Amino acid sequence: MIQGILFDVDGVIFDSEPFIKEAYYNYYNSFYHKAITEQDMAPYVGTGEATSIIGLGQSLGLDYDVERDKKGIYEEYARLIKGKLKCMNGAKRFIENAHKAGLKLALATSADRVKLNSSLNETGLAAELFDFIVSGDMVTRTKPDGSIYRYAASGLVLENEKCLVIEDALSGHMAAKRAGSPSLGVKSSFEEKELVLSGADLVMKDLSEFPDFDSVEQFNEIYDKLLLEFRKKSLIGSLLEKATKVIENAYAPYSKFKVGAAILTAHDNIYSGCNVENSSFGGTICAERGAAMAAIASEGKVSFNAIAITSFSDEPAPPCAICRQFLSEFAGPDMQVYLYSIKSGVFRHYNFGTLMPSVFELN
Ligand code: THU
Repeated sequence: MIQGILFDVDGVIFDSEPFIKEAYYNYYNSFYHKAITEQDMAPYVGTGEATSIIGLGQSLGLDYDVERDKKGIYEEYARLIKGKLKCMNGAKRFIENAHKAGLKLALATSADRVKLNSSLNETGLAAELFDFIVSGDMVTRTKPDGSIYRYAASGLVLENEKCLVIEDALSGHMAAKRAGSPSLGVKSSFEEKELVLSGADLVMKDLSEFPDFDSVEQFNEIYDKLLLEFRKKSLIGSLLEKATKVIENAYAPYSKFKVGAAILTAHDNIYSGCNVENSSFGGTICAERGAAMAAIASEGKVSFNAIAITSFSDEPAPPCAICRQFLSEFAGPDMQVYLYSIKSGVFRHYNFGTLMPSVFELN
């Protein structure tokens, strides 16, 4: 059950992305005489200023200085938002509602506290609504590392599984999964598919789509219902459907344990596989490797972005260690892994890095 919410700030609570982008453009123009583009900025959305300044500096060959540039960018941001910065649609209502209902709330922003303070002052959103605040200057590793969300959950004295992360950035969803939190994506900066493939469990346009609730229990009822609906209509549903279909062909006369798997490749194709047993037991091939073989046979070397695995066990079956090693050849730590039991209805969602933390590689 969700008991706390960890909010990313920019693009979730404040409609600040256009202003911070403009602050970067203006600062790089006036200080470096460089016209940077949206494309230059895209890899750094949600990662905080230090990562952005170093990344931009290296790719554009600038003589950057993180502290000096940060100060310049934040001063320009504070100037640009005067009389203009607004909260995102539905964000204020949702936060006040969640606070009143008894959920614990934390802010977890990759930006420094000085930027957060400018935004809070400008919009009049009360910092007292939040039980804990983590800003970029309080952590050494920025998103997609999970430490900011681990820190935020520990500040609420809750486990990460009990804290829902709300994020607009891909790096933020990766960070949530690495920390072990479920995450809700809002579409202010990225599309639904990109958010799902970065780890989002649920995606909505903005928080105005989340209905009002009176208690933590009611919040969870609504959240669970939204999750189920989203799972059915999204990419997650298509993968589960394919894995559930192929399990009909599983050949498991010896163990009677049928498994289905469906893999989404980077080319957006889905390949499925089922387990095929053999009377010489060691000859058995698992469903996951069957799906991986089909993908590689069709596309050659390609990376896997997501895998759904279905079974009939009470607890849905995770991939065995041999399959994890096999998949690791084609999957990075941010591949999404969806496990579903057709029998019990239990669903689990991990990133691959959680299931396979240290990959064997020949080097
Ligand atoms: N199995 C899979 O298909 N995938 C796994 O990751 C674990 C096990 C199959 C192999 C065998 O046919 C049956 O489940 C029982 O081990």
